[in-house]
Amino acid sequence: MTTLQTEFTEEELLLDAPVAEPLYARHSGGEVRCHGGFDAEGTYVSPRMRFRGPGIVAWQEKHREDFGAEPIDIPLETWPAHFPTVEQARYLIEQGVPEPLSATLTRIGTVEGFGANIRLLQPGDMQKNFEESIKGTAIDHLGRGLFEAHGRDEAGWEKEAGHKDMWFAARDVAFDGRKVDVDIDAMLQRMGFGGPGAEFERVLPDDVDVNLEVIASLMTRVLFIEISAFHTFKWAEAWLSDDALVAGEGKAADLVRYIRADETPHVGYLKTALTEMRDRTWVGTSGAKHKGTEMIDLIWEKALRQSLVGNRKQSLKAIMGEVEHFCAKRKNGKEIIEGFLALGNPLADLENAEASASAATY
Ligand SMILES: [Fe+2]
Ligand SMILES: [Fe+2]
Repeated sequence: MTTLQTEFTEEELLLDAPVAEPLYARHSGGEVRCHGGFDAEGTYVSPRMRFRGPGIVAWQEKHREDFGAEPIDIPLETWPAHFPTVEQARYLIEQGVPEPLSATLTRIGTVEGFGANIRLLQPGDMQKNFEESIKGTAIDHLGRGLFEAHGRDEAGWEKEAGHKDMWFAARDVAFDGRKVDVDIDAMLQRMGFGGPGAEFERVLPDDVDVNLEVIASLMTRVLFIEISAFHTFKWAEAWLSDDALVAGEGKAADLVRYIRADETPHVGYLKTALTEMRDRTWVGTSGAKHKGTEMIDLIWEKALRQSLVGNRKQSLKAIMGEVEHFCAKRKNGKEIIEGFLALGNPLADLENAEASASAATY
């Protein structure tokens, strides 16, 4: 049996590891106190990791002992690389159209802020949903610290900025001194935010508590967003670290690197809890038993379909819309767009693939 600590209070899971120096983002508009900080050696320390980090390791270890299984995984390569590419980002800035890039950083920050909604989930008594004990598991800590810590990381907490404002700070550091005029509300509307939310469609048997399905579904969707976001981090770090393109002497890219480090525990606890659910027997509201593997498979497939097909086209369209919107304000806007698309046009590729797939059907 593992001798590691597997039970924590909510206060413990929200506690910071000690830091020697706090993290500040500085630009000409002022300074932003961010979460996290640096240890005595100058290594970045993510927030709320005093017990949360060791907890994730311990729950995974306990799961290995109890069920002989590794955490569920999905490779980053499941998702396509970022659009626009680094080359296209560079091209837009060099052509004097930095707004789509600045807007992208605003959008990423805004989406990160929405990620805090995970703390609105209400797991309640999770034991009633599972035949096997959930004592000393990540499942048992979801509503007692893990969702709350995740929400604080994304949206910030008290005086410390979270990912939302850290992305905004990265933008302000990178485009310091260069006024980039972006109407954020108009941009978010163009990108389809603020519209009516899609209705929740069940894929599990009616007998399974709907609250459990909502929780496991959102956790899976967020896990996919968290993993696929590593493409975005790599992309942003590449052009934000280029002094010839942006201001800040690499400080904007550093901020993105710190945000990336903070995402590791998110991926960690989500994977762990979903694996614990997968390897247990689910107990329906009628008392009927369901195999966890089958339940998680159904949820996983639905989320993956949404992530790879539905959301992909919508987001490519939204990004192209932003590029066109800002290029249209330049005299030579048409040529800039042509040059941009000559470097890659995944939306056209996707639509061509769809057209030939349906042509083959008829
Ligand atoms: Fe985040
Ligand atoms: Fe995250």
